[in-house]
Amino acid sequence: MNAAVPPSPLLEARALRVEYHAARGLVARERVIAVDDVGFSLEPGETLGLVGESGSGKSTLARAILRLVPVAAGEVLWRGEDLLRWDRRRLRERRRGMQIVFQDPFASLDPRMAVVETLEEPLRIFESGLGRRERRARVLRMLERVGLGADAMHRYPHEFSGGQCQRIGIARAMMSAPELLVCDEPVSALDVSIQGQIVNLLADLQRESRIALLFISHNLTVVRHLSHRVLVMYRGRLVETATREALFAAPRHPYTRALLAAVPRVPRPGAASADPSRAAMPLAPDGPAGPVVGGCAYRARCPFAAAICAARTPELEPAGPDHAVACHRREAQTP
Ligand SMILES: Nc1ncnc2c1ncn2[C@@H]1O[C@H](COP(=O)(O)OP(=O)(O)OP(=O)(O)O)[C@@H](O)[C@H]1O
Ligand code: SF4
Ligand SMILES: [Mg+2]
Repeated sequence: MNAAVPPSPLLEARALRVEYHAARGLVARERVIAVDDVGFSLEPGETLGLVGESGSGKSTLARAILRLVPVAAGEVLWRGEDLLRWDRRRLRERRRGMQIVFQDPFASLDPRMAVVETLEEPLRIFESGLGRRERRARVLRMLERVGLGADAMHRYPHEFSGGQCQRIGIARAMMSAPELLVCDEPVSALDVSIQGQIVNLLADLQRESRIALLFISHNLTVVRHLSHRVLVMYRGRLVETATREALFAAPRHPYTRALLAAVPRVPRPGAASADPSRAAMPLAPDGPAGPVVGGCAYRARCPFAAAICAARTPELEPAGPDHAVACHRREAQTP
């Protein structure tokens, strides 16, 4: 019996690096390291929140683990298999298990396709043996699951609101019964009044299907509501990873602390509710986003910065059970 071998995570990223080569003028190309030395794991059925300000590399990381952008270095393991080595055929087969929901619900739907065609498409690709009747029945069940009815089937994206379009996007992603759903800012483009409904829908689907979620958001209130664990990213690198409880009760990285200090407190019962849009990340005041090569990228903003912070890049190191922080001076800070 092999009881001593722990089961592998659903997904594991190791020392991941992603670079873009952006055009600068007619000839020169500028290298942008968008994700640098990032490692994390995701268990089946777990919700992992990913937060960080604009340009910190969240979408790039999400795309890299799904092989939607090329990876310059590192590994991505899917149930222990190196996903970066899969050939086209295997990648196509396995895509069924990993789906993504994008920020802009209108842009991510084909305006020329009725809802029924959009939702049938994954079935045609991944379950080509299904008959028309069974496909329709599955589409109908999924529409009901995401809070839309049969009357949505023959309508087109422009006939729906943003929130309804996002429900359709989520339904399409769920049609192939994925094990991992990556949600890249799925509520940021929606009215504040609708955001909670979509977040609750994702929470319900996660509970019912035991699906793993990688949930990217600027909104810490939403991340706190949904996530089991949270990754905090700053300029391409992870600066803190922790369980939700540890991160919100005892953040260790100065950047995480600054983020949490900017979030409005949860209102007392009966008081006016907090506006979740106020929990947005502050923008970097120290020049364009993107990784800083050498030293700690946060040093220009950090009240604890010392000589070592410019000399060496801090690595993630354990700071408690299931808690890691990349800061040379984590012991020097007052709790
Ligand atoms: N296609 C691209 N070509 C060149 N550089 C890019 C490209 N996409 C992203 N970048 C750069 O990579 C870095 C990370 O961008 P990314 O979109 O992953 O950040 P993000 O955290 O998702 O930001 P946001 O919160 O605004 O969505 C940024 O410096 C960005 O300018
Ligand atoms: S490594 Fe230094 S600059 Fe970076 S967060 Fe820690 S104390 Fe601040
Ligand atoms: Mg993004």
